[in-house]
Amino acid sequence: MRLLHGVRNNRNTDKGFCYRYFKWLLWFSISFYFFSSFLITHDKPTSSVPRTTVSNTKASRALKEQSSLKLQNPVGLFKGMKIYVYELPSKYNIDWLSNERCSSHLFASEVAIHRALMNSDVRTLDPWEADFFFVPVYVSCNFSTVNGFPAIGHARSLIASAIAHVSSQLQFWNRSLGADHVFVASHDFGSCFHTLEDVAIADGVPEFLRNSIILQTFGVKYKHPCQDVEHVVIPPYIPPESVRATLEKSPLTGSREIFTFFRGKMEIHPKNVSGRFYSRRLRTNIWRRYGNDRRFYLRRHRFAGYQSEIVRSIFCLCPLGWAPWSPRLVESVALGCVPVIIADGIRLPFPSAVPWAEISLTVTENDVDNLGKILEHVAATNLTLIQQNLWNPSVRKAVLFNVPILEGDATWQVLEALSQKLARSHKKSTVSNQ
Ligand SMILES: *[C@@H]1O[C@H](CO)[C@@H](O)[C@H](O)[C@H]1NC(C)=O
Ligand SMILES: *[C@@H]1O[C@H](CO)[C@@H](O)[C@H](O)[C@H]1NC(C)=O
Ligand SMILES: *[C@@H]1O[C@H](CO)[C@@H](O)[C@H](O)[C@H]1NC(C)=O
Ligand SMILES: *[C@@H]1O[C@H](CO)[C@@H](O)[C@H](O)[C@H]1NC(C)=O
Repeated sequence: MRLLHGVRNNRNTDKGFCYRYFKWLLWFSISFYFFSSFLITHDKPTSSVPRTTVSNTKASRALKEQSSLKLQNPVGLFKGMKIYVYELPSKYNIDWLSNERCSSHLFASEVAIHRALMNSDVRTLDPWEADFFFVPVYVSCNFSTVNGFPAIGHARSLIASAIAHVSSQLQFWNRSLGADHVFVASHDFGSCFHTLEDVAIADGVPEFLRNSIILQTFGVKYKHPCQDVEHVVIPPYIPPESVRATLEKSPLTGSREIFTFFRGKMEIHPKNVSGRFYSRRLRTNIWRRYGNDRRFYLRRHRFAGYQSEIVRSIFCLCPLGWAPWSPRLVESVALGCVPVIIADGIRLPFPSAVPWAEISLTVTENDVDNLGKILEHVAATNLTLIQQNLWNPSVRKAVLFNVPILEGDATWQVLEALSQKLARSHKKSTVSNQ
């Protein structure tokens, strides 16, 4: 205003042109000022649009991440548990897969669980975020060239070497001394790594595994050196594809014309191996007592198509071998043949998912001479009830390891069991201490 006033005072100077020019310039400047200030004020919302978009994108991405995280591992599902799977040199695992049998034989849960975890939503790539650490060592894949049986003599040294490897590479083993580390020990006496019970007991669980969590097929209801470690009893491995293929040909509820089925090793003159006899000579007794009984279909050799016999049988004998457990437990459950468990003191896998007492029969080793009578009695009384319980799809699913994991399957049950052990998680204990 003062400027305008001064301009007016200089109206009649000689510098008329300059004045007019200056007036015009002034008008132009003022107009430009208002115009540009208008532009600036009104530009704000416009210029803030990209900013809003950016923050919206961030927010929606965060939201998306959160919701996919929830989808992947909903709150409550395994209590949000996360598992880190070690990347080990191939000599500890995949090199063994050159033998095709390695991923399909009865001890192959070590391979199936590893594969299932690799593809699962509980897996984390960030070890700092992990509750548990899975150490994938395949120890049951070394098949003897002499008899084709898995040779596990190298198991202890292979696992020890894997532990040396992971503890030198990362600090997580040392942090807990292995307490939050998980291994699979899927052969006869689990974490004792020997097929003969007396040797297994004498050796015990190796020192380097005693702090860890072992997923093992071996389990008994009494105190035993081979389960003297934090562990989860898991079922032996039967390929789910083979079960599906069998059931496609013979439905679960089809006719079962075989009354009692058994096929497998059944020594007529059992060898005395350092004072121990295979199956405590029980299979020999069954063979002697029922070998000629028409109700019993007993065969001493396995053949590839034996699942087609199980699916046509009412009762399937599951006597102990060297160890109490046997793959027949899984085969008979999966194929709907009532398991007749003859292995005193056996502790069976996943009792919260598989109501063993309602889907199977247990006969004591001493009662084998009465087997015929016992099975006749059940067939005449509660067989239909047992079959109904057994044929429940969720029961049959819980004994099979699928890749990828299926809700309720065997790996799912393992995760459920591990989530009950989260007190061992370093992450959880640091979070709750804060
Ligand atoms: C596999 O087992 C045999 C015993 O049958 C043993 O001599 C051999 O060293 C084992 N292989 C490895 C790679 O550990
Ligand atoms: C873990 O402890 C072992 C033995 O004390 C040591 O050799 C190793 O370097 C430690 N690992 C790490 C990652 O610090
Ligand atoms: C089995 O062999 C052991 C020696 O290894 C012997 O002491 C025991 O008497 C034998 N048992 C039978 C029933 O032959
Ligand atoms: C069926 O009967 C047998 C023999 O009486 C008994 O041991 C078993 O517990 C019964 N099973 C069920 C599911 O009722």
